[in-house]
Amino acid sequence: MSFADLESVAAAMVATGKGILAADESSGTIKKRFDKIGLESTEESRRAYRELLFTTPDMAQSISGVIFYDETLRQKTSKGVPFPEYLAKLGVVPGIKVDTGAKPLAAFPNETITEGLDGLRERLMEYYQLGARFAKWRGVIDIGQGFPTRYAIHANAQALARYAALCQEQNIVPIVEPEVLMDGSHTLERCEEVTNAVLAEVFQQLDGHRVHLEGMILKPNMVISGKKCAQRASPELVAAATVRCLKRHVPGAVPGIAFLSGGQSPAEASLHLSLMNAMGTLPWQLTFSYGRALQDTALTGWGGKPGGVAAGQREFGKWARLNGLARAGRFKPGMEAQAA
Ligand code: 13P
Repeated sequence: MSFADLESVAAAMVATGKGILAADESSGTIKKRFDKIGLESTEESRRAYRELLFTTPDMAQSISGVIFYDETLRQKTSKGVPFPEYLAKLGVVPGIKVDTGAKPLAAFPNETITEGLDGLRERLMEYYQLGARFAKWRGVIDIGQGFPTRYAIHANAQALARYAALCQEQNIVPIVEPEVLMDGSHTLERCEEVTNAVLAEVFQQLDGHRVHLEGMILKPNMVISGKKCAQRASPELVAAATVRCLKRHVPGAVPGIAFLSGGQSPAEASLHLSLMNAMGTLPWQLTFSYGRALQDTALTGWGGKPGGVAAGQREFGKWARLNGLARAGRFKPGMEAQAA
């Protein structure tokens, strides 16, 4: 393991003005996305869609890295260039999702534990050979009546830390993603309380597992009201609560924090990121690692039709650019209409 290699990859992932595209939807998840546009999910339709994203003109100006799913890491452009090689040539770092999903946590109704540690060392070795220089593992914490429990938070944090240590052993930068879901009807205050507990436990476990904090990226949720909350907190309150929570738990040694979008609309996710970056000097880079917030309008613009590629690329390129602006605190509501 080389700390210097890990640190330089991590720095590239959170470079000024750029963020990460999460294109690591499992075959099950991408099928759900394709169902919405009435497109059959086949190996070729999944490849074609990823090619649309990766070949978007100028994407490398605002995208520093792409998270792949196993199948995609092995796929090629229509001209026969492996996707990781194609992106690396553009200066975009290839990454790979390595967890195998959140499964029910035995004896803890409504809670999950993320699996995928068995055989992970060997899989990481192969992924490195295929060009991956960073990885992602997502622990999922849901909020509801009587949960999350301390034990579920602990079990997920421990798995995240074991994964992160294994990644670094194999010279791969871990993205540590403890996601507190925004699916419920909870308030922002409840989200903050749970996110505080989760981040405290995650950093305790990372420390215990001897993870080199300078060579990892944190991918948290924002502190936000649940989607079904009757009175959702304003963007300014979301930005303030999120930064307050991160400052309490994330050591300045961590080079960057790359948020997930978690079901926020593209405009919401960009505005929140922009407001946080406008708050003045922070100890870490604050950037994006969005899936849906970067892809939703690209997917509908494309519609699964060969004639829709240019429209899909325009949409993805637009949101990538606008989030690049949000990195500098310069995204304003309504900008997306002018940028169209
Ligand atoms: P969303 O931005 O759609 O939440 O996806 C990010 C991600 O990688 C979730 O693991």
